[in-house]
Amino acid sequence: MKSKRKKISYPGFFISFEGGEGAGKSTQIRHLVKYFTHHKIPVVLTLEPGGTAIGSKIRELLLDPKHTELKPRAELLLYLADRAQHVEEFILPALKAGKVVITDRYADSSNVYQGICRGLGLEWAMALNDYATQGLYPDLAIVLDLPVKLGFSRMKQRVLDRMEREKHSFHNKVRRGFLHLSQKYPKRIQVVNAAQTEDEVRAEIQKWVIDRIRKSKENLIWKKLQK
Ligand code: TYD
Repeated sequence: MKSKRKKISYPGFFISFEGGEGAGKSTQIRHLVKYFTHHKIPVVLTLEPGGTAIGSKIRELLLDPKHTELKPRAELLLYLADRAQHVEEFILPALKAGKVVITDRYADSSNVYQGICRGLGLEWAMALNDYATQGLYPDLAIVLDLPVKLGFSRMKQRVLDRMEREKHSFHNKVRRGFLHLSQKYPKRIQVVNAAQTEDEVRAEIQKWVIDRIRKSKENLIWKKLQK
């Protein structure tokens, strides 16, 4: 199922953060936002599920631990409904306005959690993602990779949501799923070892981001980064 859609062009730069639970996405996203702000590059930060008002309602449905009866297909379609709204209402306008958009999770989460781990099929998840996003994939997806046990030990104090309550074997599959996807799409997805120190992870992410911006766009963002 190959996409027949034309790639959407825009002056901004689109980055997603992906990975298993407790990998430190939020901390690293904060570092990256600071980096762009320091270079006076307009940057917006968002998340999935829940990047819009409609999305927040969908997020409640998806993550409420009480909703144990939610079926895999319905789960996938809810994540996609959130994403379709997010792309059209928030992400695309920001990219068209020349901003850097950083999202805490995006399409690869559905590819891995629903397509691979729920067994719905990677092909299906990708085809439906393509429809929901109008073909919009990040210029760079950063996967923070961490052994599952380490991830969960980092989030001991939190009340776990519906997805986090899945078995360790599910989360191991999530980890392998992201690694599989990154091998399949090495140009688009970059794995970073999240077991390094916070500062090492920050520096490595920054290096990949600069590399990708330099390679993919001879534009204002790259010029500003060189200042
Ligand atoms: P969230 O609280 O945002 O967790 P995290 O800090 O791990 O990102 O919860 C999002 C949960 O939803 C997370 O367990 C991953 C899962 N998810 C999917 O299963 N499919 C998706 O398409 C997305 C975006 C998230």
